[in-house]
Amino acid sequence: MPALDESFKRQIDGTAALAKKEAAAPRRVLRGSRRRAKKLPLRDTVDRLSTMNDPLFTDAVCARAAVASGALRGRALEQRLQAVPKAQRDAWLDGLLALPELPPDDPRLPAGAVPYLPCEVAVIVQALREAPVSASDVFVDLGSGLGRVVLLAHLLCGARATGIELQPHLVAHAQRSAALLGLAGVHFLCGDATRSPIDEGTVFFIYASFGLSSLRRILSRVQPLSARRRITLCAVDFAIPKTEAPWLHARPSSRPELVFYDTLTTG
Ligand SMILES: C[S@@+](CC[C@H](N)C(=O)[O-])C[C@H]1O[C@@H](n2cnc3c(N)ncnc32)[C@H](O)[C@@H]1O
Repeated sequence: MPALDESFKRQIDGTAALAKKEAAAPRRVLRGSRRRAKKLPLRDTVDRLSTMNDPLFTDAVCARAAVASGALRGRALEQRLQAVPKAQRDAWLDGLLALPELPPDDPRLPAGAVPYLPCEVAVIVQALREAPVSASDVFVDLGSGLGRVVLLAHLLCGARATGIELQPHLVAHAQRSAALLGLAGVHFLCGDATRSPIDEGTVFFIYASFGLSSLRRILSRVQPLSARRRITLCAVDFAIPKTEAPWLHARPSSRPELVFYDTLTTG
């Protein structure tokens, strides 16, 4: 096995994601929402959009109602999202999905495991578009956090979507959001993504790989699936070395932090 370079080691052991989270934390703590998220019970975290001005807050809540009624999906939802000023798009999405901002990690999160850090909405949308994800796909987010990626994959593309997440409180928020929006096509499982069922997946999303041994376990489970159908892996903020998966073809995206890996089999 060739030696791994330092930057890849940092990417795969979760250190890079942790550093990013620490860098993001002071700004968010200043805005007070992380402090609130720690104190508030689940039911009170819904409308924590004090960081947004009133019209945007109202717009997110209206969009939530339209999504819950089934009227707002796909292209129309994407256009609505793109109409929100870029700097507020992530908060607007959290408002629509009724999610809290950056909850603290569970102290029982294993050492070295990548912590929760939400993927930027612009990156998610680009990943869904360029993968591409369609209504016939089964989308799986390995390490799904609050479920933003899973919920968007379902709402924008119509795909059945599953999130697998180690931290129970994050899963509870995601499940609650799916229930609030009345979404039957999304599922959230609490467990280790390297051991949970993934057999139906066609597009896998990983934001910040959670350790080399975990990555190897995931790859060893995805590889047999490619004998049956084409599989695409979307990797955000890390790269899969060719030596780890020679059966995957790397495909660049229009964003530097996002790389697609397609299996060679297309049948
Ligand atoms: C960087 S966050 C990404 C969250 C989500 N995918 C997103 O983009 O918004 C990584 C998530 O993976 C979870 N995680 C870490 N190791 C895991 C494992 N072995 N199985 C399942 N989830 C894991 C963490 O708890 C964290 O919520």
